[in-house]
Amino acid sequence: MSSRASRAIRILAVAGARPNFMKIAPLLHEMRERDGFEATLVHTGQHYDAAMSDSFFRDLGIPEPDLNLGVGSGRHGAQTAQVLDKMEEVLLERRPDAVLVVGDVNSTLAATLAAVKLGIPVGHVEAGLRSFDRAMPEEINRLMTDVVSDWLFVTEPSGVENLTREGVARDKIHLVGNVMIDTLKAHLARARELDTPARLGLEAGAYAVLTLHRPSNVDDPEQLRGLFGVLEEIHARVPVVFPVHPRTRASIANLLEGEAPRLHLVDPLGYLEFLRLMADARFVLTDSGGIQEETTVLGIPCLTLRQNTERPVTVTEGTNVIVGTDPATIRAEVDKILSGKARPGSVPQGWDGAAAARIVDVLERSLGSRP
Ligand code: UD1
Repeated sequence: MSSRASRAIRILAVAGARPNFMKIAPLLHEMRERDGFEATLVHTGQHYDAAMSDSFFRDLGIPEPDLNLGVGSGRHGAQTAQVLDKMEEVLLERRPDAVLVVGDVNSTLAATLAAVKLGIPVGHVEAGLRSFDRAMPEEINRLMTDVVSDWLFVTEPSGVENLTREGVARDKIHLVGNVMIDTLKAHLARARELDTPARLGLEAGAYAVLTLHRPSNVDDPEQLRGLFGVLEEIHARVPVVFPVHPRTRASIANLLEGEAPRLHLVDPLGYLEFLRLMADARFVLTDSGGIQEETTVLGIPCLTLRQNTERPVTVTEGTNVIVGTDPATIRAEVDKILSGKARPGSVPQGWDGAAAARIVDVLERSLGSRP
């Protein structure tokens, strides 16, 4: 090994579930393009279906993971524990200079814990977001990950405020922008070449896109039935296309005895097809986190079917409106959009396609001078 290679900064990047893949992709590309970095990718296997995982690697040009821990689905404790156990073995063997985690899924927390217990510093990308709702598994993951991370890479000003209030030292916090938007910007032109709306029988600008998978919405039959009721009403006015998450598909089968909503149901879509669909939608209805951000950048109205958001800049600056799950509120906001009164938004600072470069700059400054 040359002396140059022996001085390379060795970063182990971790991804586990669908929303992680579009965040890790630009970071991997950036590190692999720079001299002096050696990046390894570990896939925890939290998501494993072709539609939930493989298609994202293909669409985003992410190289095959160096390792797949094959953890799969399971109860929260068991899933988290399995990633922790397997990741510890990997880290003991590879001893990277730092671990890079993204987002707020169980894999994020577990990989972070494994690393910090071994004295390996962690960079958390998308740190500081808070819904202030501890019934959300992701909120617990965010809080726990942030408290032990060494570099907190933040997407929006609320993240800096939250971390500062929680007592995190200011020099650990880096407001770098949004890596998910790096990916969106890198792929939008390619996505626009696809004929997804036409393939699904939809007319550009004349349909809505729905996603729904939060446990609070889909694990309770009454809640799910109520939501589907108002969504079916909307579908009678403007077609609602609904790529169904596996968790939601299971809830329809088990909790609603297979009684599927009368919407335009499709299987989960790949990254490019879903982006294509959002880009030409009249509006989007969702309980996802990332989609609130993507619609803000695309300038498409977004109605968030939750009581809160950990991404408040999408409301104060972007196109997002928090509508909760009350049918009257949802109906009223849909009326506004259909009568041309949707609030125009603007794009938050640093959501410009260069967030990964800023993150890798910080790592280079911090780790480049180590002995
Ligand atoms: C996880 C994340 C959530 C993220 C979501 C995106 C946590 C706590 N939650 O939720 O933040 O928004 O991913 O999808 O980490 N399943 C499959 N195939 C797969 C993956 C899952 O069929 O490839 C099914 C399994 O039945 C599984 C269920 O979906 O039990 C839920 O998967 P899980 O990873 O536990 O959580 P998500 O609801 O996907």
